[in-house]
Amino acid sequence: MNQHSLVSISDLSEEKILHLLEQARYFEEHPNHKILDGKVVGTLFFEPSTRTRLSFETAVNRLGGRIIGFADANTTSSSKGETLKDTIKMVSNYVDLIIMRHHLEGAARYATEVTETPVINAGDGANQHPSQTMLDLYSIYKTQGRLDNLDITLVGDLKYGRTVHSLLMAMKYFKPRFRFVACEELQMPREYKKFCDQHGIQYTESTDFSEDIINSSDIIYMTRVQRERFTDRNEYERVKDLYTLRNSMLSNSRPNLKILHPLPRVNEINPDVDDNPKAYYFQQAQNGLYMREALICDALQINPKG
Ligand code: CP
Repeated sequence: MNQHSLVSISDLSEEKILHLLEQARYFEEHPNHKILDGKVVGTLFFEPSTRTRLSFETAVNRLGGRIIGFADANTTSSSKGETLKDTIKMVSNYVDLIIMRHHLEGAARYATEVTETPVINAGDGANQHPSQTMLDLYSIYKTQGRLDNLDITLVGDLKYGRTVHSLLMAMKYFKPRFRFVACEELQMPREYKKFCDQHGIQYTESTDFSEDIINSSDIIYMTRVQRERFTDRNEYERVKDLYTLRNSMLSNSRPNLKILHPLPRVNEINPDVDDNPKAYYFQQAQNGLYMREALICDALQINPKG
């Protein structure tokens, strides 16, 4: 395994997280820094994506590297039955870095076991989405001026939402107070609550997205109900629209509150929130470009400052 791969957010120490935040800040100031001359990056997206793939590819372009890859695995030989192992071994012959999204939990870890090329996990099933977490941390840091001692409310699909799983794990260094708001069917899985207990992370659970919770939050992190992870379509229909944030619900919220969402949204945030200065989800996606420039350089062991 290449030690510069990023598979799980738990691969990163506090020191490394803080270093990457600094690097992202540097790239926000210098987004077009041509330091990937001669490097080829493979983007292998076995699952749909807009932001993650396009921001990684924009990052490579802005840094002067080249990209090969696919956005639809049906156009590749995996549709003829080629295994993931063979695909990864083949692509490793061509590229310096693999960025991969896959529907199977553990697929990114498996990829690192069959190649010496560094791999960045761009989302594996309901498991992890570490580059999203790094841009979330950058967004929280930029808007709150700190990462520690924040009241963070996670709302929606806490069962299948890989972004909330990764974020929860990353926050272990920063003494958060979490509120988990979800219906019975989509509660935060037991292993993540156990993780909180093991790391002294405070959390409460509620099925009610109450005024009290909204008005005492520094960050509200809305999530989409992950239709693609349900085996029972009726269950999806029953829970898909249970939590919608509307502008009128924010009247007494904290002045520093920011609304985050990894996007895409469906009905979780009413468009009437978009013009509220507390809405931050589009800037959050923009921060993804700077953070992904930092993550690519880190995986390739390139120091942007020379
Ligand atoms: N946030 C996120 O992963 O978005 P995409 O699915 O569009 O990449």
